[in-house]
Amino acid sequence: MARTVDWDDGDGGAVTAIDQRALPAEYRVQRLASVDSLVAAIADLTIRGAPALGAAGALGVALAARRHPGDPDRVRSEAERVAAVRPTAVNLRRGVERALARLDEGADAVVAEACAVLDEDEATNRRLGRRAADVLTALGPDRPLRLLTHCNSGALATVTWGTGLGAVRELAERGRVAEVLACETRPLLQGARLTAWELREMGVAHRLLVDAAAASAMARGLVDAVVVGADRIAANGDAANKIGTYALACAAVRHGLPMVVVAPESTVDHATASGDDIVIEERDGDEVRAFAGVPTAPPGTAVYNPAFDVTPAELLAAVVTEEATFRAGAWEREAALERGLR
Ligand code: MRU
Repeated sequence: MARTVDWDDGDGGAVTAIDQRALPAEYRVQRLASVDSLVAAIADLTIRGAPALGAAGALGVALAARRHPGDPDRVRSEAERVAAVRPTAVNLRRGVERALARLDEGADAVVAEACAVLDEDEATNRRLGRRAADVLTALGPDRPLRLLTHCNSGALATVTWGTGLGAVRELAERGRVAEVLACETRPLLQGARLTAWELREMGVAHRLLVDAAAASAMARGLVDAVVVGADRIAANGDAANKIGTYALACAAVRHGLPMVVVAPESTVDHATASGDDIVIEERDGDEVRAFAGVPTAPPGTAVYNPAFDVTPAELLAAVVTEEATFRAGAWEREAALERGLR
């Protein structure tokens, strides 16, 4: 599999992206040669997932810098357009700002910085995957684990490897995964279309379930732990992730199961005090009123369609980044969880 997003320096430069709307039916790579096309690709979820959005943000500035050399004001306004497409995943704006910081050095420096964001992604994800695998091993029973996940936090949500699903990949390589239960993730089915596709590529045993079946799977003893990614983690440890994550956390606590959030440090936003301050993106009602283009509700039915929700830190067993493990229940940053997990 190619990198989820990448830079192609030919013909004046372009962003390449695996088209995540086409999967699993078709694997195809798009070439996005204008900021307009990149903005559209982020809005329609051709590119999605917090770390992948961070990379796309940096690449968007690279694209603008190449298209408008000698016009920094234009590059800055194009960069702002990219940063504003999706408000919840802090990585997007962070990626934009990181590349923009090199603008005074010229377009080549901006492109180099954007490419550095991409290059760092794999190393970061492998590190946090190893740390999260250690944490899940310590929190779970002493046998291969039955893990439940939501949305897609795999290679497709990053440049490569993944965060939550990266931890699953690491555990699978250690022979420590019995089964993954993948929630389909209404309304856009990132779990069904993307996570099931990645698990199949990885050769990891998995079953797909409707989101509403997750709590009963826990009640019936089919789950050892829940593992997910995040789009923004507030300074107090509250974590925004795909809509439905909060319900999983409530159910996990009810059944005494640990829920672990796995995300890079670039997803931790110390400027956001708590989950109450995280802007939650609301998406078009047609995503809920119709299924694969077929209406499933009376025309014009009013819809509430938040793309994300916030899980309070107190419901989480841990938040794992590449640098540290936060024991989220108490929300004290510490070198490692008790039991010597480093
Ligand atoms: O709307 P999406 O598909 O961009 O939402 C993605 C998620 O909620 C992921 O779980 C999150 O970005 C973490 S992925 C590393």
